[in-house]
Amino acid sequence: MFAKSSLWLYVPTLVLTLASDISGHEVSLLSQSMTWMDSYYDPKAAYLYATALNHETRSSAWYAAGLLARNNTSDALQANRIIRAVIAGQYKDPSKQWFGTYQKYPEEPPVGSNAYPAVMYSSWDPNWRGFIGSTFIVMLEEFSELIEERTRDLMMESLTNATVGDSYRVGGVDDDNLYPSYSNPAIMRAFVSGWTGRRTGDANMTRAGEVEAQSIVDLFNRDNTLSEFNSGTYAGVSLFALTLWAKYMDVDSVMGQNAERMIRYTWASIASLYNAELRNVAGPWDRTYGYDMNRYLSILALHIWTIVGKERAPIAERPFVMSHEGDFAIAPLIAILAPYHNSLLNESTIAALTTFPGTHTVHTSAFSPPWDVYPRNITTYMSASLTIGAESFSEEVIGGPSKNSASFNPAVAQWKRRDGSVGWLSLYAEVEELAVTVGEAYMDLAYPRGNSSSRFTFLVGAGREQNVQSWDDVDGVAIMVTGSVATEYAVSFNGENGGAGKPIKCVSIL
Ligand SMILES: *[C@@H]1O[C@H](CO)[C@@H](O)[C@H](O)[C@H]1NC(C)=O
Ligand SMILES: *[C@@H]1O[C@H](CO)[C@@H](O)[C@H](O)[C@H]1NC(C)=O
Ligand SMILES: *[C@@H]1O[C@H](CO)[C@@H](O)[C@H](O)[C@H]1NC(C)=O
Ligand SMILES: *[C@@H]1O[C@H](CO)[C@@H](O)[C@H](O)[C@H]1NC(C)=O
Ligand SMILES: *[C@@H]1O[C@H](CO)[C@@H](O)[C@H](O)[C@H]1NC(C)=O
Ligand SMILES: *[C@@H]1O[C@H](CO)[C@@H](O)[C@H](O)[C@H]1NC(C)=O
Ligand SMILES: *[C@@H]1O[C@H](CO)[C@@H](O)[C@H](O)[C@H]1NC(C)=O
Repeated sequence: MFAKSSLWLYVPTLVLTLASDISGHEVSLLSQSMTWMDSYYDPKAAYLYATALNHETRSSAWYAAGLLARNNTSDALQANRIIRAVIAGQYKDPSKQWFGTYQKYPEEPPVGSNAYPAVMYSSWDPNWRGFIGSTFIVMLEEFSELIEERTRDLMMESLTNATVGDSYRVGGVDDDNLYPSYSNPAIMRAFVSGWTGRRTGDANMTRAGEVEAQSIVDLFNRDNTLSEFNSGTYAGVSLFALTLWAKYMDVDSVMGQNAERMIRYTWASIASLYNAELRNVAGPWDRTYGYDMNRYLSILALHIWTIVGKERAPIAERPFVMSHEGDFAIAPLIAILAPYHNSLLNESTIAALTTFPGTHTVHTSAFSPPWDVYPRNITTYMSASLTIGAESFSEEVIGGPSKNSASFNPAVAQWKRRDGSVGWLSLYAEVEELAVTVGEAYMDLAYPRGNSSSRFTFLVGAGREQNVQSWDDVDGVAIMVTGSVATEYAVSFNGENGGAGKPIKCVSIL
């Protein structure tokens, strides 16, 4: 699929033809993210810099896609160099568990050496096969004329190795967690395997992609929701990956048959939970890197930018000053796919991203086997200035399937503060089972397996008052606590430079 039409952009001194057929709000997403990444590019290494003059692999691959889309002066040349550098750093020993994934940065010692033990999601990341593999496929599908033949051949070999390495992953074996319910990497793996199998005539790869896709679809069809439900970051990745299913897989594939519907339903679910007044998707959040989408950079916000424009999206004027700003590097992929992806959304979905449709309550559910004993039951009360969302669950683990209490936020409220900014509170996940009831202006939370040592801990975005002593110091909302609990409480602050303990940070496992 190559550029169907070209857009002419007039800038003072030159006329630039984008190699991509983008034309709407995604033009600014592409150009602003590329300007930011240009300032990190090291042409000597053909990589983006990360910190301390080291480089980083995955963001370099995303940048290469943006270079091909922009196609200014030496962009295509640099993209070819980056792609070859990234492939040179792909693990080549098929006997290793990390075969076919890509080194995280070129300066690191060999994974599995004495100095650098192999630790999944630390010294090596199994999901980067899917992230980088799917980026290669977007480049091959959209811009193959700009890629040299020898680079294209290497990309096909790289995709073959990534697919073989990804086939080593079985949830529950060798500490791996890739079950079909781990939506974002599962959707990418099914796609890379299915696409590569078809291109190379490898029926086994094609079949593996179909089998995995069918499991993902079956889980989705239960209540038209992704298992990895409602995540500002990962819903954005899953929508990207489902777009690859929809755009590049034929109707002879389970992926081609189901993806458009899955994208529509996923957006309808996001739209039902979106509060355009606060520019936030209400809780509960299965995995989040922040509590206010205006303050952390979510991949979902990049999609929203392409749909309704930057001004109305939950994104800062300078996106790279937000927290989790590294994810801005995926912006070129979102921009390149936006014309197709956005064409799938209907008017009511788009309208909800700009105008809050009125008070309502959302009931839905999501299911993540093998972790969930029963599907997580989700209820969210939505009003213009206050949203309250929570889920009942019973799981084998604390902190959700990714076993991360900082990112799993099963009971969340957000409200409008007096200055218009977003206040929030979130139950800190400390238990395996939670039973909730949510209604207008309240949430009831119970620990079915609790006892007299149980406690409820809330993280709170209090607002203006810095010397917080009590609930009364929380800006924009009045909070009353009742129940079969001792209602006295302690207030503490965990800061970078002191306080009660270390900040609760969300550890990334993309
Ligand atoms: C990329 O840029 C080159 C040089 O300006 C131009 O000749 C070529 O047509 C462009 N390719 C695409 C696909 O836009
Ligand atoms: C294209 O390249 C020229 C020459 O390097 C540069 O002056 C111009 O700003 C670039 N345009 C974009 C949109 O990157
Ligand atoms: C793919 O894997 C094989 C080993 O099976 C290795 O020899 C080859 O160099 C790898 N190709 C690339 C492009 O990394
Ligand atoms: C076929 O694919 C499966 C699943 O990806 C994999 O486990 C198996 O090793 C493959 N077999 C061959 C012969 O490639
Ligand atoms: C928009 O799409 C969603 C998901 O397919 C559907 O449930 C909803 O009814 C659609 N709305 C309209 C107005 O067509
Ligand atoms: C989940 O919700 C449904 C309907 O809203 C209810 O019938 C069911 O009992 C709930 N299950 C649990 C385990 O809370
Ligand atoms: C409460 O349950 C926890 C976790 O099962 C256990 O460690 C603790 O000892 C229990 N406390 C009481 C007072 O029973």
